[in-house]
Amino acid sequence: MTLQSPSHGGAIDKAAEKYGIAPQEWLDLSTGINATPWPISSFDPIHWQRLPLASELTALKQAAADYYGIPDIKHIVCAPGTQALIQTIPFWFADQGKRATAHIIGPTYAEHALGWKRAGFKTNTVMTTPENRKTAIADILGSPGGRDDIVILVNPNNPDGGLIDQVTLTELARMATENGKWLLIDEAFMDCSPKHSICPKCHELDHLIVLRSFGKFFGLAGLRLGCAVMRPDLAADLTDRIGPWAIAGPALAIACTAFGDRAWQSGMRNQLCDDAKRLDALIDAHSDLALLGGTSLFRLYHGKNATGLANHLGTQGILVRLFDDNADRIRFGLPGQEKDWQRLERALAAFRN
Ligand SMILES: Cc1ncc(COP(=O)(O)O)c(C=O)c1O
Repeated sequence: MTLQSPSHGGAIDKAAEKYGIAPQEWLDLSTGINATPWPISSFDPIHWQRLPLASELTALKQAAADYYGIPDIKHIVCAPGTQALIQTIPFWFADQGKRATAHIIGPTYAEHALGWKRAGFKTNTVMTTPENRKTAIADILGSPGGRDDIVILVNPNNPDGGLIDQVTLTELARMATENGKWLLIDEAFMDCSPKHSICPKCHELDHLIVLRSFGKFFGLAGLRLGCAVMRPDLAADLTDRIGPWAIAGPALAIACTAFGDRAWQSGMRNQLCDDAKRLDALIDAHSDLALLGGTSLFRLYHGKNATGLANHLGTQGILVRLFDDNADRIRFGLPGQEKDWQRLERALAAFRN
């Protein structure tokens, strides 16, 4: 089935064309990718030369399990990015004879609905707010019928940052199991609030699938690594579907070390939390936009001049994220280096004057 791809952040090539500013001049704040990446040190060039070893994938899974709080590596499937899992899982589900409705808890990352549609599923996007999200999910998972229906939740949500706590989600995932339904939780932006992750509960929840993205918090989106977490028999089957050598050798080596770097992780969480507050203060001082929500990796604001501000920033070579379905919303990623903060501040100040 051919479906139109949604627009995404990060398209500085298109912005370069639109505003006539060379791609290397852009400050890209249109994504939720950490602008201060985990510092890659040199690794053995052998990783470029030979195929990755099974033992290296096992070591990566162990490092991921320790980092995500997963009790056994048998729950983990690795893939070249969460996006690859978002596209593969619906077809894999269909091949197991699970052909029901995919309920997408919106507004959210558009690739989820697209993935299930592409695989021929009926989709039902339920528009929610962070406040009524839990009830919307409970209504679907608790209703009679709809066997094998699947609810897709991004938690914390992109773009509004709405977060459902672990205890509530554990109850909802139990409800899914009891009623023969499924709950898929995309935790791509969970790294700054790890205590809310449902990963440590995965061994208790048979009808739960969790997605984790390596690229966002570690600031290495180009490395392409994502994990799915689920019941071991399902994980083994999905692993077969992904096939051998899916993760590049250098990615295995780098991610394995990054997952183990606890000092960098805790320092980065604190820094991003401070930076999110700094961005909120900057937007408050220089615009009429109001904060709607966010995580420590991106902030969502609302206001009548959102599109005008995005255009103004575009003329200054600063890319932010607008949304096709709501012209009053604007999402900012966080600048990394001090010079980028200053550049953003200057551009914002010029908009007000
Ligand atoms: C909610 C969400 N899930 C998954 C992805 C894909 O991430 P990855 O780089 O791991 O493929 C994105 C990318 O923006 C996202 O916003």
